[in-house]
Amino acid sequence: MDKMRIIGGQPLKGTVQVSGSKNAALPILISALLTEEVCDISHVPVLQDIKTVLKLLNHLGVQTDSKNGKVQLSAKNVMSFEAPYDLVRTMRASVLVLGPLLARFGQAKVSLPGGCAIGARPIGFHLTGLEKLGAEIKLENGYVVATCKKLRGGRVTFEFPSVGATEHLMMTAVLAEGETVLENCAKEPEIVDLAKMLRSMGAEIEGDGTETIAISGKPSLHGTHYHVMGDRIEAGTFLAAGFITGGAVTVEGISPEFLEAVLSKYEEAGAQIERKENAVKLGVIERARGTDVITQPFPGFPTDMQAQFMAVMCLADGASAITETIFENRFMHVPELIRLGADITIRGKSALVRGKKTLIGAPLMATDLRASASLILGGLAAQGETWVNRIYHLDRGYEKMEEKLKLLGAKIERVSW
Ligand code: UD1
Repeated sequence: MDKMRIIGGQPLKGTVQVSGSKNAALPILISALLTEEVCDISHVPVLQDIKTVLKLLNHLGVQTDSKNGKVQLSAKNVMSFEAPYDLVRTMRASVLVLGPLLARFGQAKVSLPGGCAIGARPIGFHLTGLEKLGAEIKLENGYVVATCKKLRGGRVTFEFPSVGATEHLMMTAVLAEGETVLENCAKEPEIVDLAKMLRSMGAEIEGDGTETIAISGKPSLHGTHYHVMGDRIEAGTFLAAGFITGGAVTVEGISPEFLEAVLSKYEEAGAQIERKENAVKLGVIERARGTDVITQPFPGFPTDMQAQFMAVMCLADGASAITETIFENRFMHVPELIRLGADITIRGKSALVRGKKTLIGAPLMATDLRASASLILGGLAAQGETWVNRIYHLDRGYEKMEEKLKLLGAKIERVSW
């Protein structure tokens, strides 16, 4: 199992190229199930979660060929309609194969994902939505078993703007007969990217990026070439690395508008931000100021940046209240940041961070993807040596993180046991 060893205290300086977005790439790759023609997807990050989704697609009979961030998929000979527990358990986005399989083949069997480190994360909104389009759904032995004669368009109003449920229904409705209207949709940029991919396959979708999405179903879709958007969470994390170390970091390959809630918080906390056409530059001339944050669906502050922002606040001048409203158990980085000397108290959904002048290196344990990024940030700023254990969490979502950090001047190395 790999660990990361960091010697903190170097101000990070330079430019980082952002990889393709993990959260956009996952549903985009799964969308290849919607056609028997070939789909060529580029700018796919090389990550554990991507390997898992390709393994799942292979299991279903999809032929895949991936090299250097380019993936070719052919779902001409789908032979299985089942997503097994072992694959869904390691990556929840696997449940998104349910709707596309159902829409194209009239049957699907997908393991219920179960909870994960950051919360219960049920899929009720997905299943209720699919039922509205005509799916018959049963739960058997921990599996969702879905069948249908023909899916028909319908009106689905989500109880909460769930990213996964919005994507799932959009990917399903493109092959349902007639019109579908999805209401109270999530507006995340990854949903817009998925809609663009589906349109490039011949789907008719309007309103993505707003709370109402209208889809006019087609009898079939065709193959496509598609380039995945840049990863806004990776970009925000590298900017946080510049911020917490008092450096100057530019991230390239990301539209600043996708990061606006994060950038304006960084500004409120004292960073200097320059927004460019496809890049963002962060500079620091003073210590960060304590700044409150509440996580919200897009365009609010993303829950996927909460842990990283908290790491920055651990060294801020003054206190900050960080409130998590999306997931119920997303403060697992707190006890680890405290091991670096941070002063943090959790009260229900909020963490009160009282900024310290210094953090001191320590051995740490990563618990989930974004928590592990916050521990790396803490280690980069702490005095002395920090070890971050269980970095397989990090490898699920950050491509070559230590190599990119080294280019910025970080003293970091991966150590294999
Ligand atoms: C996606 C992202 C994840 C991000 C999250 C919120 C991917 C692969 N993952 O996860 O990185 O943190 O959006 O921006 O894109 N919920 C229900 N029932 C449902 C569905 C969701 O109660 O059927 C709840 C969840 O438990 C959670 C909230 O809704 O509390 C938001 O979840 P959702 O937006 O669905 O997140 P994911 O799509 O799982």
